[in-house]
Amino acid sequence: MTDVTMEKIVSLCKRRGFIYPGSEIYGGLSGTWDYGPLGVELKNNIKSLWWKMFVQEREDMYGMDAAILMHPKVWEASGHVVGFSDPLVECTKCKRRYRMDQVVSPPAGGCPECGGSFGEVRQFNMMFKTHIGAAEDEASISYLRPETAGGIFVNFKNVVDSFHPKLPFGIAQIGKAFRNEIAPRDFLFRVREMEQMEIEYFVRSEEWEKSFEDWRAECTRFIEMVGIPRASVHELEVPDGERAHYSRRTIDFEFDFPFGRKELLGLAYRTDFDLSAHAKASGVDISYLEEGGERIVPHVIEPSFGVDRTILALLVSAYTEDELGGEPRTYLKFNPAVAPVKAAVFPLLKNKPELVKKAREVYELLKLETRNSNLGAIAWDDNGNIGKRYRRQDEIGTPSCITIDFQTLEDNTVTVRDRDTGEQERFLVKEILSAIHGQ
Ligand code: GAP
Repeated sequence: MTDVTMEKIVSLCKRRGFIYPGSEIYGGLSGTWDYGPLGVELKNNIKSLWWKMFVQEREDMYGMDAAILMHPKVWEASGHVVGFSDPLVECTKCKRRYRMDQVVSPPAGGCPECGGSFGEVRQFNMMFKTHIGAAEDEASISYLRPETAGGIFVNFKNVVDSFHPKLPFGIAQIGKAFRNEIAPRDFLFRVREMEQMEIEYFVRSEEWEKSFEDWRAECTRFIEMVGIPRASVHELEVPDGERAHYSRRTIDFEFDFPFGRKELLGLAYRTDFDLSAHAKASGVDISYLEEGGERIVPHVIEPSFGVDRTILALLVSAYTEDELGGEPRTYLKFNPAVAPVKAAVFPLLKNKPELVKKAREVYELLKLETRNSNLGAIAWDDNGNIGKRYRRQDEIGTPSCITIDFQTLEDNTVTVRDRDTGEQERFLVKEILSAIHGQ
């Protein structure tokens, strides 16, 4: 069994170009991380699988991409201006601030840093404020969206007017959301700038329970499809009093992270809370006209996936230490569908022009496949001995390594090495695609 620690994951991510601390050369900016060349490929693969599964492969879904900056009234109507807050306590001595659930029994317990006592518990609103235009006054305040959902609700009428969808149907969106978390922590788990993949699925009120169950199964299907083992994910029925202000039922899908079992994604029944609140606050009729002529306000089931937490769960699930050929190795056992590099191409020796030429041909062939059918990123490596190149690719999770050797020049076959077993098989160049697709 591999002992996966956060230190190992964070260090591999930085060293190999997946994820770097935000603004690192200035000492970092807490709660922000920058995705490097491999991280962005991994992230794009996850988002694209999600989009294909939940938007393109379905008939009842509409995609969208709303502005991050929205009218401040959106967040007043949604309840976020008043209710989107965490309880905060401040040490009266050193002035450090903590989220209440992070310190033991405040205000009885002391400050973990200086032992000082805590002041009153206050509510801290987590929305980032900014100003629109040149005037920095109350009237110009806007917020960076704390969830992508808001952009969907305010466009419900637009989508209905353009496409006349039949209920039930959904609107999906992938995008950035921002939360001024009191205590960002655990790498990508709790950040201040994150990305969400959200669906607002509109149903008739009497259909909500069936739809909730359908989406519960769909959430699990996605988790398994990207390669997060089902056994590491646990459903938690969120009890009364602990749900978000808009939710009548919530199931958190929790993952066994190295720092504990914590929320990976959430599934909520938001009732007609949002559409009704926006209709009331804007004065615009955003009801839905049934075929029989009745006007209703649809209810909403909301599966909400965090991109960053999905990436963290994938890294934790994929991180493996084993022995291969008598040597210890570390590798990322990514599902090929999410692997940031799909295949790597090596000439056996870099000082043999005929091998390099042939290897470039194979490399170009795969690049063409990326252009034509979206194969994904292909790597070229001619540095160091072949064993080291394999290990480098293993460590970033590349499923297949293709080596062009002297036999290639004679019979046009290459070796394709499997990341997990280390085994090599020869294939004709024209068979490479099916060999790596079959991984
Ligand atoms: N629209 C519903 C909503 O935003 P949420 O449970 O607050 O619900 C949904 O967030 C998902 O977004 C979470 O399950 C998590 O994956 C992700 N998420 C929320 N806050 C986050 C943070 N500070 N850092 C990283 N991911 C976060």
